[in-house]
Amino acid sequence: PRKIIIDTDPGQDDAVAILLALASPEELDVLGIVAVAGNVGVAQNAINARKVVELAGRPDIPVFAGCSRPLRRHLVTAEHVHGQTGLDGPNLPEPQIPLQTLHGVDYIINTLMAAEPKTITLCTLGPLTNIALALIKQPAIAERIAEIVMMGGAYFEVGNITPAAEFNIYVDPEAADVVMRCGAPITILPLDVTHQIQSTPERLAAIKAIGNQSGAAVHAMLTFSETFDLKKYGWTGAPLHDPTVIAHLLQPELFEGRHCNVTIETSSELTVGMTVVDYWHVTGRAKNATYLRNGNADGFYKLLTERLARLP
Ligand code: BDR
Ligand code: CA
Repeated sequence: PRKIIIDTDPGQDDAVAILLALASPEELDVLGIVAVAGNVGVAQNAINARKVVELAGRPDIPVFAGCSRPLRRHLVTAEHVHGQTGLDGPNLPEPQIPLQTLHGVDYIINTLMAAEPKTITLCTLGPLTNIALALIKQPAIAERIAEIVMMGGAYFEVGNITPAAEFNIYVDPEAADVVMRCGAPITILPLDVTHQIQSTPERLAAIKAIGNQSGAAVHAMLTFSETFDLKKYGWTGAPLHDPTVIAHLLQPELFEGRHCNVTIETSSELTVGMTVVDYWHVTGRAKNATYLRNGNADGFYKLLTERLARLP
């Protein structure tokens, strides 16, 4: 199986991504989970991550806490979407497993430096602060990363936190900029994809009908996070973001896009955090990322529902 580290701010959709990864041990070996400040503060995100690994029956997965704020900006959070706990919806018990004492950034560095080069993939589901700080602290990790697969950005579908920017990039644009320039292979699952992966009532009912605790929790999580998005967009289903990262690792044929240049706007007040995608190659800027634009929603929900059925 492919070795992955999940960097995350759970978050209902982050939680579903973690569950999808833990339900797929034949393909994915989750080495550890690192929390970052984003949807809510880092301490609460680390609690949420531990709740989710216990829900999946995997208390052996180590959970670390990373950075508590962006590199250069004040933290912007999203309680208005995810609730006060960041993971409102299901009633998950307080976690029993301890938080690891090593700082999440050092965990990322140590793990990459100790492993064979290009054997570990970083899956990022939140702001890119931890990954950027790891790259700044130990630049030698860049060529040891197999791939960075991130949920973040928006271009054709434009932003969700400002008209121009997607939340994960907007919260720490300087970090996103460091990551985009690092030279490791990057695959991006932006809003352009995740807005197509809508959690309709039928899809949520199929998840509830699985009948296990994970399916019930996912149903409660997505029902909660939908309330905000359905009002905002007026669609029949809400976008589902972070699990597309894991689905891409499991079934890349569900997605299509192209290898191109992606640059982060860090200075304009109006468009800070925008992912500027040279999709039509109109500049000479070097290609640094695979930017996905379309996703197969039926195929995605079939995969998710099948995999959640394998969990407790
Ligand atoms: C991203 O923002 C967060 O609120 C979600 O968890 C997802 O990672 C979507 O813009
Ligand atoms: Ca997230």
